[in-house]
Amino acid sequence: MTDAALSSAGDPFGLRSLDIDELRAKRGAKWQFRPAAYSAWVADMDFPVAPAITDALREVVDRNEFGYPAWGAPGDVSPAATLFAPRMAERFGWDPDPTRVHDLVDVIQGVRATVHHLSEPGDGVVLHLPSYHPFLHTIDEMDRRLVPVEWRDGAFDYDTLDAELAASGAAVWIVCHPHNPLGHVMRRPELERIAEIAERHDVVLISDEIHADLTMPGHDHVPLALLGEDVAARTVTVTSASKAFNLAGLRWAVMHAGSDRMHEAMTSLPGHYLGAPNLMAVVATVAAWTEGGAWLDAVLGVLDENRLALPGMLAEHVPGAVCKVPDATYLAWVDCRALDLGGNPAKVFRERGVELSPGSQFGPPGEGHVRINIATSPAVLAATVAAMAG
Ligand SMILES: Cc1ncc(COP(=O)(O)O)c(C=O)c1O
Repeated sequence: MTDAALSSAGDPFGLRSLDIDELRAKRGAKWQFRPAAYSAWVADMDFPVAPAITDALREVVDRNEFGYPAWGAPGDVSPAATLFAPRMAERFGWDPDPTRVHDLVDVIQGVRATVHHLSEPGDGVVLHLPSYHPFLHTIDEMDRRLVPVEWRDGAFDYDTLDAELAASGAAVWIVCHPHNPLGHVMRRPELERIAEIAERHDVVLISDEIHADLTMPGHDHVPLALLGEDVAARTVTVTSASKAFNLAGLRWAVMHAGSDRMHEAMTSLPGHYLGAPNLMAVVATVAAWTEGGAWLDAVLGVLDENRLALPGMLAEHVPGAVCKVPDATYLAWVDCRALDLGGNPAKVFRERGVELSPGSQFGPPGEGHVRINIATSPAVLAATVAAMAG
């Protein structure tokens, strides 16, 4: 075998052989929005998408099929939404009710629609901190009251939350599971604690499980609604293929409304109120969920290698920066407080040519931290961390 054939046999999807100049020439936000020598901020992957997806999209282009799709009749859900329930059953042992599945344009639309329908301005919304910033913006822009659950010494502080809910209540709890930016996978006892607190204080749960497919070896994703009938009846699950299959620009997501109130709200909306699913996004998701398994396994292999190598790379190049190895996702949370770089170390790393997400973006507990996106080849990750040294 030639070297090229050997290397493509070991790396059939080209995940390990990324060319940094080709990455820098990419036209998306990751490499253009804030041009840098190394870009490891927004949650897009550097990897080429699964060939099954590009083949399916190419077929739409080759056949010139850009008209209204055949599945667009009133009351229909898209083929991607139809696949959602069997896929959850196969992958996570959860049997969602297919009649409660709704197409969305994106996951945050589902979060905001649920906050809008199930709470009023001034109501409390529970959120784990640090938090994926669009959840913080949702609470702020929709005039809800943030009820934080803080990460302390390697765990979320549910005792303080319980006391706070007893005092002031909340209508909704946004659970990001697996968690962005901590990469934390909630084990069953933690999920049971969340469910028990939510039930006692009558709080509806929004479970954003968009990172579930990126759960690393040694960890299991347990859908929140799998815990039991009572939990399922107060849970609205939102997810999409966009993180695990790198399709964020295409715009499609799905909601399972276990909550009767939310299901009724979604079914009573006037037609077209939430728009209609994007044809290309649905085609790509169907390809991802039916034929993308080998690619996803290969991506998980590279991400697993990267997450385990990261602490050593940091120790070598940025001693004092401490990384929480993610249990899931391709986002790693790095504590830089010992480096004496001030409240916003991302600013210093930017001056050194490396674009990372500033920890403060994820709420006040994120000060002195950065989030690194490790969804790139091991070589590009190594060069990124080396450049952080300045
Ligand atoms: C937890 C979480 N939810 C939602 C999203 C965005 O999803 P969408 O683009 O479908 O709104 C992201 C993107 O990084 C995310 O990390």
